[in-house]
Amino acid sequence: MSDQAAKLLVASNRGPVSYRLTDTHPRTLEAKRGGGGLVSGLSAIGSDAAALWVCAALGDGDREAVARGVGEPGVRMIAIDPEVQADAYNGIANSVLWFVHHMLYQTPLEPSFGPEFRRQWAHYEAYNQAFAETLAAEAAPGAAVIVQDYHLSLVPGLLRELRGDLRIGHFSHTPWAPTDYFRLLPDDVARQLLRGMLGADRLGFLTRRWADAFTACCTDLLGPDALDGTETGVHGLGADAGFLRERAHRPDVDERIAALREQIGGPDRRTVVRVDRTELSKNIVRGLQAYRLLLETRPEWRERVVHLAFAYPSRQDLAVYRDYMTEVSRVADEINSTYGTPGWTPVVLHLEDDFARSLASYRIADVALVNPVRDGMNLVAKEVPVLSDDGCALVLSREAGAAAELSDDALMVNPYDISATAEALHQALSMPAAERTARTERLAAAATSLPPQRWFLDQLNALRGPAT
Ligand code: G6P
Repeated sequence: MSDQAAKLLVASNRGPVSYRLTDTHPRTLEAKRGGGGLVSGLSAIGSDAAALWVCAALGDGDREAVARGVGEPGVRMIAIDPEVQADAYNGIANSVLWFVHHMLYQTPLEPSFGPEFRRQWAHYEAYNQAFAETLAAEAAPGAAVIVQDYHLSLVPGLLRELRGDLRIGHFSHTPWAPTDYFRLLPDDVARQLLRGMLGADRLGFLTRRWADAFTACCTDLLGPDALDGTETGVHGLGADAGFLRERAHRPDVDERIAALREQIGGPDRRTVVRVDRTELSKNIVRGLQAYRLLLETRPEWRERVVHLAFAYPSRQDLAVYRDYMTEVSRVADEINSTYGTPGWTPVVLHLEDDFARSLASYRIADVALVNPVRDGMNLVAKEVPVLSDDGCALVLSREAGAAAELSDDALMVNPYDISATAEALHQALSMPAAERTARTERLAAAATSLPPQRWFLDQLNALRGPAT
C-alpha cells in the first residue's frame, strides 16, 4: 500500500485526461481533459486529496506521460503491455462485449469463438488483473472503490480476492444483454464475467431494464442464489445543466452557430440534428435512410429542412467501426447528390469532433434525432432539451435507456423501422411551436432530475452504507 492510500477510488478504462505528443523538437506532451458524466460526478466530492482515479494509458502520448512520470494529481494512469491492451480493449471489450450488450451481431458479423478469442480473453483477464493490483495497492483500509463498465467486468472479483476489506461497486454504462443473447458467449466466459461482477458489494445500472437483464443472466447461468451478497441499484445519469448552460453560451459556441446558419442557408429552414460517436449501435445509417425517405415521400420538406449530422470518429483501430464511418459518409453523399440543389445541401455531415459545434447544434435544433438500436442511456437526448433556445422536438428510440425517463414527451420510434422514423421526423418538424416548447420544458425537467454529482454521490452513499 502506498503512503497516501486513497479512501475513494474510481477505475475506468478511459481516464479524465489524455496526452498527445507534439510534433515539435523535442516532442512535448499536451494534456487534454475529457468531460462526461463521471468527470462531473466526481466533482461532487471536491478536491478530496484522498480520492484517486485509476485508468489505462491508451495511446502513445499517454504511455510517454507514464514513462516520463507526468501526471495529474488524483489520477493514476497505468501502462499495460500494448499487446495485452489491444486484445482486451479492441478485441474483447469493443468487439465482443460491446456487440453482445448492444446486440449488434448480424450476418456477416456473427461471432466465432476460437483460438484468437481465447488469446484475447487471456489478455482481458490480465488487463483486469493489472487494474485490480493497482487498486489493491492504492486503497486505504476499508476504502470504497467504484469500477466502471464492461472493460473491467472481472475487476470486482479479482480485487475482492486481493483485498477483502474494501467496499467494491461496479457501474455499467451500457445496456445488459438479454440472457439468450448473452449466452452467445462461451459458457465458461459468460459465467466468469458474471462472477467477476458479483465480486462487488453493489452493482449499478442506468435503467431498471438493464439491471433486470443482468439479474436474469445470473439466475439463468449461475442459479437462483447467485445474487446473494450483491445488491443491484438503478441510477439514471442525467444531464449536467449548470455546466452545459454556462459552456453553451460562450463566444466560441455563438461563432459556431453563425457558421452553422451559413451552412443551413435560408433563415426559414428547419434543422434536424444528430450528434454521435460513430459506431454501429448509434444507428446513423438507418437515421439517414429515414431522412431520405422523408424527402422522398414528403416533397414539401425539400429545400425547407437541413439535417446536421455530426458523426465523430470512435475506436478507429477496428475495421468494423472504420467501415461504418465510410458507410455513413457514402449514404450522406448519396442523399446530397440525389436531392441537393445549388442553394441547398440536404445533409451537412461533420466528422471532426468539435464540442463547441455540438453545443451550437443543440441550441438551434428544431428536431433532434436519437435513434440507437440499443444504448445504455444516451445523454444527447437529455442535453438537447436543456440547451434548446426555442424548443426542440425529440425523436427517440425506444431502445435507448433515456426512453425510461423521456418517453412521455419524445416521439418514440422502433429504431429498425425506417418508415416510422421518417413519419416521426415529419410530425416533429410539423409540431406547433407552443406544443414543442411545452414538451421541451418537460423533457428538460426529466433530463436533469439526477445530475451527475448526485448520481455519483447516491452510488457512493449506497455503497458505503449507513455511517456507523
Ligand atoms: C461508451 C462506454 C464508455 C466509453 C465510451 C467511449 O460510452 O460506456 O466506457 O469510454 O463509450 O468509448 P472509448 O472506446 O472511446 O472509450
